[in-house]
Amino acid sequence: MIQDETIAGVLAWAHSQLAHLGEGSRLDAHVLLAKLLAVQRSYLLTWPERRLPPSVLMRYRAQVDRRASGYPVAYLTGVREFWSLELKVTPDTLIPRPETERLVEVALASLARRKCPAALDLGTGSGAIALAIANERQDAIVTAVEACPKALAIARGNARRLGLQRIHFLLGDWIEPIGDRRYHFIAANPPYIDPSEPEICCGELRFEPPTALLAPKQGLAEICRIAHTATAILHRGGSLGIEHGYQQGAAVRALFQGVGLRRVRTEIDLQGHPRVTVGSLPG
Ligand SMILES: C[S@@+](CC[C@H](N)C(=O)[O-])C[C@H]1O[C@@H](n2cnc3c(N)ncnc32)[C@H](O)[C@@H]1O
Repeated sequence: MIQDETIAGVLAWAHSQLAHLGEGSRLDAHVLLAKLLAVQRSYLLTWPERRLPPSVLMRYRAQVDRRASGYPVAYLTGVREFWSLELKVTPDTLIPRPETERLVEVALASLARRKCPAALDLGTGSGAIALAIANERQDAIVTAVEACPKALAIARGNARRLGLQRIHFLLGDWIEPIGDRRYHFIAANPPYIDPSEPEICCGELRFEPPTALLAPKQGLAEICRIAHTATAILHRGGSLGIEHGYQQGAAVRALFQGVGLRRVRTEIDLQGHPRVTVGSLPG
């Protein structure tokens, strides 16, 4: 029961409901209420004594209950920030992760000296990687492929909202819809969790699309399909960069070397985990 219907009282109630989720629960309470009221979080601290109307209280209570069961904040608010871009997300899209920004950094560094580079994002989801590259490189020709029509529609909508309309969005299975285009950098964050991993039954992963997360063969099946086909659509000297699980670096490096990529290396993410393997076609 919410007894104190002021902003401060409601936030205290929400925090008590979410405390079992740990460290970020106070922030979650603030983010959800700020989104519902369409205000900045600072508003909540500036006006703690403001009373909330019953309709807001009802919706907030429902959202906090959902969050208490582990449902992701990003699906409740419908947005997640990636590379400083506010992206719409739904349960049809993966929630973009901070570690994927490492792949964007690798792509941008690889394209830095090229004018009008062609970049491809395989499995674009909400459009995170493609939009980040297009936002940084106004001269880039960016293509984004996605197998899930609903996710592709979200990515298209994000591009429109952000005014990044130069991206070609294609529906299909990895490189299948590409035709005779060629790329200087191909980025992919494919599903890479083995279906037998216990982690998929707990936390927020339970609510994300399994087609965005799971791949057989120790999580390597889709990475393997991409590595075996993507070299055919790389320009000479172009590079492939794939995000993977922190224990998959050695396997992905071996795979890249086996398909003829050179200068193969694995980059670490902000947590210090091996996260992105990149390799280039000989020039
Ligand atoms: C891990 S999510 C990555 C989403 C987004 N790139 C990101 O980093 O937030 C993998 C994405 O690949 C898509 N996908 C899975 N299999 C695919 C396939 N065979 N062809 C194209 N996309 C696929 C999923 O629908 C999902 O959107």
